[in-house]
Amino acid sequence: MKRYSIPNTNLEVSRIGYGCMNLGGAWNQAPLTAADISRAVGLVTTAHEQGINLFDHADIYTRGKSEAVFGKVLQQQPDLRGKIVIQSKCGIRFRDDPRPGDPGRYDFSYEHIVQSVEGSLRRLQTSYLDVLLLHRPDPLVEPEEVARAFDELQRSGKVRYFGVSNHTAGQMALLQNYCDQPLVINQVEMNLLHAYLIDEGVIANQAGGQYTAAAGTLDYCRRHEVMIQAWAPVAGGKLFNPPPQAEERVRKTADLVAKLAQEKSTTQEAIVLGWLLRHPARIQPIIGTTNPDRLIASCLADDVTLTREEWFALFVRARGAPLP
Ligand SMILES: NC(=O)c1ccc[n+]([C@@H]2O[C@H](COP(=O)([O-])OP(=O)(O)OC[C@H]3O[C@@H](n4cnc5c(N)ncnc54)[C@H](OP(=O)(O)O)[C@@H]3O)[C@@H](O)[C@H]2O)c1
Repeated sequence: MKRYSIPNTNLEVSRIGYGCMNLGGAWNQAPLTAADISRAVGLVTTAHEQGINLFDHADIYTRGKSEAVFGKVLQQQPDLRGKIVIQSKCGIRFRDDPRPGDPGRYDFSYEHIVQSVEGSLRRLQTSYLDVLLLHRPDPLVEPEEVARAFDELQRSGKVRYFGVSNHTAGQMALLQNYCDQPLVINQVEMNLLHAYLIDEGVIANQAGGQYTAAAGTLDYCRRHEVMIQAWAPVAGGKLFNPPPQAEERVRKTADLVAKLAQEKSTTQEAIVLGWLLRHPARIQPIIGTTNPDRLIASCLADDVTLTREEWFALFVRARGAPLP
């Protein structure tokens, strides 16, 4: 698989990354089973065989079990660590953490960021994260504290590079004003059915245009060389054989996806992901399937090149309205 260099790092990553959100099985505190471990070994091995070298985690995924099962994979295959890029996230806290009755919340405090990374390293059985992302913007963020946490994590060798997820241009600029380390990634929800960050540039200054909060996020990232990662890149599978009662724009887009896949002798996954890869911002889809066949079908996107006409035909069908 072809690779991207992440600007301002020495990391070379596959154009498609593997999302480990559901690698640990159910979102509960049941212990990992032998079946969970062998399934994870299979998925990580398949992803790596397809050329994927970036694995996306978060401290909360399947309540820590995704990182823990990945740690078991690394334990079985110690050579793998040096060949891959491991990224995790922090900043979301579940209800009842740590005291019963505590609300679900975001937490970018120094203590929480540092403790979260230490927990991730323990579960992953590794001494460093290649990249740490702040998971979702914390309205109580104190950027000086984030900067202090980043300094400490970098100084101690626990984290090499830093980034954000679900952040707007303004939120990134605020953080960057305080942090010495460049923010190198912004991971955002993006797919044909959720293309607001792309569409907002098209509808700017149109009557009824919305999306003002995130305005300019994609352009900010391009201008400051922040790599965009797309989460939910296949919209959770909604574009593959949608039921008759699905929204019209979903059905029409799915029809075109199927037609293009047939014309290009490739898979529907490859067309949906190829739409993201065709964007010049060098977007890296983070795929989340837990089915090895779909994982392989997805990686065929690396060989697909959509024309400008095909890209717009998909875009217009998916937005459900003609261009202005
Ligand atoms: N930063 C954030 O806030 C954030 C939020 C969510 C996710 N993420 C990251 O992004 C990754 C991907 O997210 P995602 O899992 O939502 O994305 P996704 O890849 O768009 O969706 C995966 C889901 O779609 C299903 N699916 C995939 N291909 C399918 C097909 N051909 N037919 C039917 N169903 C299909 C999968 O089921 P099967 O497993 O059965 O294939 C799985 O449930 C996660 O693993 C995580 O690393 C980040």
